[in-house]
Amino acid sequence: MNFAELAGLAGGHAEARAIQVAVKLGMFEHLARQPLDDAALARALECDRRATALLGNTMVALGLLDKHDGRFELSAASRRYLLGSSSEYLGDMILFDEALFATWANLEETIRSGTTARAPDMYQSRRDETERFIRAMDSLTRARGDAEWIAEHLDLREVETIADIGGGPGAYMAALLKRWPRLRAAIYDLPGTLEVTRRILAEREPRLASRIDLVRVDYLRDEFPGPVGALFMSNIIHSEDAATNTNLFEKCFRALRSGGLLLVKDHIMNAELTEPRAGAVFSLYLMLTTRGRDYSFEEVSSWLGSAGFTGIARTTLPSPPFTSSIVLARKP
Ligand SMILES: C[S@@+](CC[C@H](N)C(=O)[O-])C[C@H]1O[C@@H](n2cnc3c(N)ncnc32)[C@H](O)[C@@H]1O
Repeated sequence: MNFAELAGLAGGHAEARAIQVAVKLGMFEHLARQPLDDAALARALECDRRATALLGNTMVALGLLDKHDGRFELSAASRRYLLGSSSEYLGDMILFDEALFATWANLEETIRSGTTARAPDMYQSRRDETERFIRAMDSLTRARGDAEWIAEHLDLREVETIADIGGGPGAYMAALLKRWPRLRAAIYDLPGTLEVTRRILAEREPRLASRIDLVRVDYLRDEFPGPVGALFMSNIIHSEDAATNTNLFEKCFRALRSGGLLLVKDHIMNAELTEPRAGAVFSLYLMLTTRGRDYSFEEVSSWLGSAGFTGIARTTLPSPPFTSSIVLARKP
């Protein structure tokens, strides 16, 4: 690694924070209407003129705005990813990161003590946090295109019913239902999340609502309703410890029909837990906020095998833009 690479990594928090604040202040939405100079932009944002100009210049330097004759305007990237009206809007994920910025300040303390920096409540204690969390998951999945990739590459022609454990915003089930018109889906999640799921599906996929059942299931306490032909779990095991994940896979096994398919999508790490890089860094976030971390294929396979699954195999999604894999397993 050379100096520039190291300096860029070590100072990355400044760039991240600047983008988060620009999104939170509504800088991109205001510039969607028309290009503005610093005085007009500051007035629109109700912010200080000099400070707004400096933040705007930073966004230009980062490629998120252009500047001509002193007026700021959207770049191609911000038009695509930072306007709420775009189908690839990443802003809700950026606002979630913005809300968690203070949590990262506890990293040193968490490394010393090994305890989380906030209650590992999966953002269920406050309705506004639940909404922000689930909208963030939706935003990330839509901007990156995970659900469309899965729908294109997964062969579900033999499957009549699928349930998404911790399905959150429902993006994966919506994409699968569009690809497989005879399929029916269920989302198993907590009540606070399901309220948000219902709103998101009504906003975005009203025609699919009759084919998706929203079912209150606490995966830590409840058995999973079944029998179902396939079960899907995306970004679930990384929030839980090894004993819980073994137990989750045993519940999956009981809920599946014979011959049924389990699909586990997550960062799936190498045996040393150092690759992919995004997964190693994400494990720090998980340590701050959950009981989990990202797990290796060997770990996930051993839990699946001990639950009774066979034919365990892994497919890695192409990177970039993706950073995760799917582990497939069958109930014999
Ligand atoms: C990281 S999000 C993943 C959402 C979605 N699967 C995705 O990949 O975008 C975790 C999801 O698990 C749900 N969840 C957390 N704890 C749960 C529990 N005990 N029982 C059921 N669902 C839970 C959350 O509400 C949330 O929808």
